[in-house]
Amino acid sequence: MKVATHHLRCTECGAVITGSAVNSIFRCPDCNGLYDVIYPWSPATGSSEANNHNLPNASALRWLWQERRTSTLPIDQSGVWRFRDLFPIVEDPANIVTLREGNTPLYDLPRCAKAVGLDSLLAKHQGMNPTGSFKDTGMTAALSVAADRKFEWVACASTGNTSAAMAAYAARAGLRSIVFIPEGKIAWGKLSQSMDYGALTIQLKTDFDGCVRILTDLVTRFPIYLLNSVNPYRLEGQKTPAFEILEQLEWQVPDHIVVPGGNLANSSALGKGFMEMHRLGLISRIPKISIIQAEGANPLYRWYMDSNRIMRPVTADTRATAIRIGNPASWRKAANVIDKLGGWCEQVSEQEIALAKAQIGAEGVGCEPASAVTFAGLKKLVALGKVTREERVVLILTGHTLKDSQYTIDYHRGELLTEAENAQISAEDQALHAALRKPPIVLEPDSDVVLHALESHMKLAQPV
Ligand SMILES: Cc1ncc(COP(=O)(O)O)c(C=O)c1O
Ligand SMILES: [Zn+2]
Repeated sequence: MKVATHHLRCTECGAVITGSAVNSIFRCPDCNGLYDVIYPWSPATGSSEANNHNLPNASALRWLWQERRTSTLPIDQSGVWRFRDLFPIVEDPANIVTLREGNTPLYDLPRCAKAVGLDSLLAKHQGMNPTGSFKDTGMTAALSVAADRKFEWVACASTGNTSAAMAAYAARAGLRSIVFIPEGKIAWGKLSQSMDYGALTIQLKTDFDGCVRILTDLVTRFPIYLLNSVNPYRLEGQKTPAFEILEQLEWQVPDHIVVPGGNLANSSALGKGFMEMHRLGLISRIPKISIIQAEGANPLYRWYMDSNRIMRPVTADTRATAIRIGNPASWRKAANVIDKLGGWCEQVSEQEIALAKAQIGAEGVGCEPASAVTFAGLKKLVALGKVTREERVVLILTGHTLKDSQYTIDYHRGELLTEAENAQISAEDQALHAALRKPPIVLEPDSDVVLHALESHMKLAQPV
């Protein structure tokens, strides 16, 4: 008889089931909790209960993961699947669907560091994935499981990036995909991707939370494989950037990871990744993980500030549409990460997001608005004394700047924020905005006119 390579454990009641026994909504039938994928070497609930007998040889793996980078095999070239020893979730490796995701850059942001008063600042740019967001790392994992289990249809509800990733990976695998998105509330770049990759795109006249409700009902009535982040196999792919960060820092552990929070799965995936590296003995401590939400979509922040710690869904509204989520499915997983690893939850305003995004753009890096909440939130954590000057901080930039170019154009033309919002910006931040804004200049095709414009521009230009 075949020995199962992994099991699923309910994060609420601890019930353990085989991977194939899970229901179509990926929720525990006893307590409605979400699952984590566990392996023979995973600690039962804490490292004290670890089964050291099954522990993989960590230093051999560390060598192997590097070696695979020079291989020509697609699954070795993938920055997710080269770590496959730590997530044996697919029975037949021929079913793995990869677009060579992962292996994303870790950039330094010296000007942002200076602006916030830190010695240095790093950004793991998950927007440099094949469809332009971190969702690819999770989608390659969960869609491979769908292919392995012979599903023909896959579906997700999305604020845009999940649907883009799912559509692309489904197309590669020859599966049919259905996307549910809130009508008029996702960035055009993302909508265009799901059409380009051939998904059936359904715009529902509701918000993201409404889309989730409809899809959750549908998957119980039609044989569709659900690819929202309640699917725990997504998180197995999304944990791998933690491994890459450690490799990129030559196994020096950063002090602090800062992540945007929407449906709240990514923070726990990264936490799982770091905890597994600790479990294998590859690192001696685990970084803190802080989660930043937009003020208009802040249910976790409210939970965090509430002395009774009650989660109350909100009606979400923010221009950072990727995180416009009021009833996050994975909030308990995220809450556990903050409680277990330390770290904080912060909220940031629309003005703060716009400024942070422009500052990251001015580093020649750029990101989408939802990713910029990390830098905006970091400013608050530094101001509160929670992060100190010499700490090594990594921002997780989740999406590419081209995902929402309309936001960027509106910002630089001075058309993004309302007058009332602009009036609330401090004089210090107003000066930063003024120096960062670079609207296009329209001129007559005459070199004297252009020269004159350049001269006046140079007089005005101040380094930021
Ligand atoms: C660009 C971007 N950043 C952050 C998030 C939030 O991630 P999570 O839903 O895992 O909290 C999303 C997800 O929708 C996203 O698309
Ligand atoms: Zn349960």
